Amino acid sequence: MPAAIRLQGLAKRFGSLEALRGVDLEVEQGEFFALLGPNGAGKTTLISILAGLTRATGGEASVMGFDVVRQYREARRNMGVVPQELVFDPFFTVRETLEFQSGYFGLRRNDDWIDALLHHLNLTDKADTNMRRLSGGMKRRVLVAQALVHKPPVIVLDEPTAGVDVELRQTLWQFVRELNQQGHTILLTTHYLEEAEELCERVAMLKEGQIVALDRTANLLRTDAERRVELRLNPARLPEALQARLVEEKEGVFQLGLHDYAELEGMLAALRQADIKVEGLCVRQPDLEEVFLRTMRGAER
Ligand SMILES: Nc1ncnc2c1ncn2[C@@H]1O[C@H](COP(=O)(O)OP(=O)(O)O)[C@@H](O)[C@H]1O
Ligand SMILES: [Mg+2]
Repeated sequence: MPAAIRLQGLAKRFGSLEALRGVDLEVEQGEFFALLGPNGAGKTTLISILAGLTRATGGEASVMGFDVVRQYREARRNMGVVPQELVFDPFFTVRETLEFQSGYFGLRRNDDWIDALLHHLNLTDKADTNMRRLSGGMKRRVLVAQALVHKPPVIVLDEPTAGVDVELRQTLWQFVRELNQQGHTILLTTHYLEEAEELCERVAMLKEGQIVALDRTANLLRTDAERRVELRLNPARLPEALQARLVEEKEGVFQLGLHDYAELEGMLAALRQADIKVEGLCVRQPDLEEVFLRTMRGAER
């Protein structure tokens, strides 16, 4: 079974700027995968290469086993891209836009699927509205429908929720989740980390054109170093034995580093011996945002 997306040493130069510096990545069929990275990291460039809109200056890329340059048509047919920028023809209605896109892929009788897409994206009552009369959020929905018109096995979304309202975000994620459950591979770029954390099984972090972290989301979040126990103490002081573990103290709440849950026993014993009462205790796991920031700091060149 070919990988849904495969990148080998992918590089892209714009003059002296290296937007991608040798990216290796494999996304398996059926995965829900997030590509995270700050602005300028190279996410859109990578997607443009996959979509055949830009040529790489080094390395190779394929979609479902089809090389994006040598087998452009097959690669393109296997992928739907929701672009970051809102681009559309203002003179077409929503339905015409989708019919036109179907025609591009040689699909004539696609009305049932177009109707289903309109329904899933809450666009049915806008079907005959001209694109230029739609709000930004509505246009974004049409872009999503447009990317899905040929039922591609691989769906790529480039910051689909940047600046969109909560309702669209929820409609969109519900729909994309269903598509993933039906077997579609999803590649999502975002800088909303909580989205990636909630949706994606695996994450790659891109910085200045290089992958600086690649793992299952759960593994990235399991990095013990950042796990902390928060204690509210009475009296609000820490016994000598625990001083070395102190990470932060704020308004009488002490945050101590916790590598292993078993260490809690010793901590509680030390507090008991010092006659300090525990009035509150909780263990904080790092979220993807913290992991991301730490990784980005660590990858500073
Ligand atoms: N057509 C272009 N010409 C010159 N530089 C570009 C072009 N497209 C992107 N870049 C540069 O490449 C880098 C990566 O951009 P981009 O892929 O858009 O990042 P991201 O999508 O992660 O924000 C940025 O420094 C950007 O300015
Ligand atoms: Mg981008």
